[in-house]
Amino acid sequence: MAKRFHHSYVVCKCKHVSLGEIIHSIKENDAKTTGKIADLTDAGTSCKCCLSKNDDIGEEKLELYLDQILTKFVG
Ligand code: FES
Repeated sequence: MAKRFHHSYVVCKCKHVSLGEIIHSIKENDAKTTGKIADLTDAGTSCKCCLSKNDDIGEEKLELYLDQILTKFVG
């Protein structure tokens, strides 16, 4: 993840979930899977494009995906 994103950056456009909320679910609520993040924040529960690059079926690709955030913070 070369580019830096502000915590207010909206990762899940459908549910308006910010990077900060997702990081909080990982660090404070021990989310280790995209499913757990979805349970805690609602991110990824609509079109699912924000789950990963492979899930992004939209014409305009997203810049950041839940699986990338997990890789960075969980490994
Ligand atoms: S962008 Fe996250 S569910 Fe649609």
